[in-house]
Amino acid sequence: RACNNESRGALIVLEGLDRCGKTSQSSRLVSYLEGLGHSTELWRFPDRTTSVGQMISAYLLNQSELDDRTIHLLFSANRWEKRSMMETKLKAGTTLIVDRYSYSGVAFSSAKGVDLEWCKAPEIGLLAPDLVLYLDMPPELLKGGYGDERYERLEFQKKVAQCYKILRDPSWKMVDACQPIEDVQKQLQKIVLDNVLACRNGKPLSLLWS
Ligand code: TYD
Repeated sequence: RACNNESRGALIVLEGLDRCGKTSQSSRLVSYLEGLGHSTELWRFPDRTTSVGQMISAYLLNQSELDDRTIHLLFSANRWEKRSMMETKLKAGTTLIVDRYSYSGVAFSSAKGVDLEWCKAPEIGLLAPDLVLYLDMPPELLKGGYGDERYERLEFQKKVAQCYKILRDPSWKMVDACQPIEDVQKQLQKIVLDNVLACRNGKPLSLLWS
């Protein structure tokens, strides 16, 4: 019996195109779980607070130019530098709601034409999420007012959607993000709570990429 996995927190990832509502749904989920008494934290990738994260942020703001594979590896390094903290928190019983993870890493880089298997390789050995929630929205319906960041263009988002489709596996929970915010949240809450309880009951942690 894996004692140190008992009452661990759940690693729950939200994925989707830019501006599909991930960020507000993520923070609502944290409030919901905390309201039920579950220790929960909101995480996001890229984590722009680290020095690697600052390089990523400058790239996304078009303040620097980087080769496609170089930026890909920085995004991955940004997850690796948080990996041990992630494991510590989960084992201490804290659930992490994570706004984007390795799937964003692979979908966005492979949408630029970088080989998909090459994109997956540096993610191998990171913690595998217990649950991937995909907020599904046709690219044409993404919230208007695209910002100035590098990837926020419709044509590119369409390619990213195709890459997410290739990556998707049957365990992903697809949620129709075109519904009203409250309805999306209610669906997410039910799925997330079931998962948090399963992890508390001893479901072991596993690794990417499986
Ligand atoms: P994010 O900070 O979530 O964007 P937003 O400004 O919408 O809050 O992510 C910034 C961009 O980085 C987003 O277009 C997705 C992309 N991205 C990657 O290309 N690779 C990655 O590994 C991650 C986590 C994000």
